[in-house]
Amino acid sequence: MFVLKAARLFAVILIAFVVLTGGCQKKEKVVRVGIAGPMTGPDAKMGTDFRNGASIAIEEWNTSGGVLGSKIESDIEDDQSDPRQARAIANKLVNEGVIGIVGHFNSSCSIPASDVYEQASKPMITPASTNPLLTDRGYKGIFRVCGTDNQQGKAAARFVREKLKLSRVAVLHDKTTYGQGLADIFKNDLGKGIDVVYYGGVTRGDKDFKTVLTSIKQKSPELVYFGGIYADAGLLVKQAREIGINAPFMSGDGTIDQKFVEIAGDKAAEGTYLTFSPDPAHIPSAKDFIDKYKKKYGDLGPYSIYAYVAVNILLEAARAAGSADGKIVIDQIRSKEFMTALGKIKFDEHGDVTEAPYIVWITSAGKFQEFWK
Ligand code: ALA
Repeated sequence: MFVLKAARLFAVILIAFVVLTGGCQKKEKVVRVGIAGPMTGPDAKMGTDFRNGASIAIEEWNTSGGVLGSKIESDIEDDQSDPRQARAIANKLVNEGVIGIVGHFNSSCSIPASDVYEQASKPMITPASTNPLLTDRGYKGIFRVCGTDNQQGKAAARFVREKLKLSRVAVLHDKTTYGQGLADIFKNDLGKGIDVVYYGGVTRGDKDFKTVLTSIKQKSPELVYFGGIYADAGLLVKQAREIGINAPFMSGDGTIDQKFVEIAGDKAAEGTYLTFSPDPAHIPSAKDFIDKYKKKYGDLGPYSIYAYVAVNILLEAARAAGSADGKIVIDQIRSKEFMTALGKIKFDEHGDVTEAPYIVWITSAGKFQEFWK
């Protein structure tokens, strides 16, 4: 009996000791990086790509000692591709004292969130938001490592004009800042001699696009251009084939994801043209990252490497600044040239990369291949 009581007392004292000494231990200094994007919702695959790419960068930095004498932690937030949610997250990340933000994915989220980050002097680097407005407002601390829809829309229009030499095109968009913006740039860049026989918008997340597709079919376009994201693009292409539209589809960076082919089906997706940057598999400095990513997460998404590069730029700038102060880090991002997995990156006065080539890819046997430069 006495032995049992003594054992209990000893256990209580031991627990109290562990709790107390644990509580008194000096907290490890931590630098937090905000990772913001759609972790759930229709574009969740792209948000997951961000998270995966960013985690590899953070792990690498921590393995080599962290930054500013501190360990790095990610603060991953889900904007669900919803502009209001994006703004709420932006406030949360600022309040939590992140050193900067890698995100968001959708231009319709990055633009409202960037107002919050700019106000708080927190650098934001988007891996993927391509709408020109994001960097057109004279903000100091807002950057993107991808190109813009001015460049991408122009490349698509040139392809239709010079390579395909078409004269009848239908233009569809998903009514978002990005989708409609890109479709409009494409349409305006087509130039004289190409008739836009149909122009209109669809609602994101709709499951039945047959009414709009039937109207398009009646106009017999030679190509259907879609400004939007992979899930809607996949369904549009699938249903277009079902009602007998055989003209090829063309879309942009939001669609070039394996999920597009999964949703459309290999056969319906075959021959779809997509604008995106050249394959990083041909960039020697990208090899280590690609190998690591594949081993850990499987195939890369289009923006996995862009999220990795964005984290590296942010942390490299913090290291060069020798400070976590947003203003000083922003100055470093603006002025430095960064050696990244995607090659050298330098930002112009808007916060855009000085080089952003777009090429045309094609969907072939369920995969994406470079097609035209
Ligand atoms: N490029 C797409 C956008 O800006 C993902 O929304």
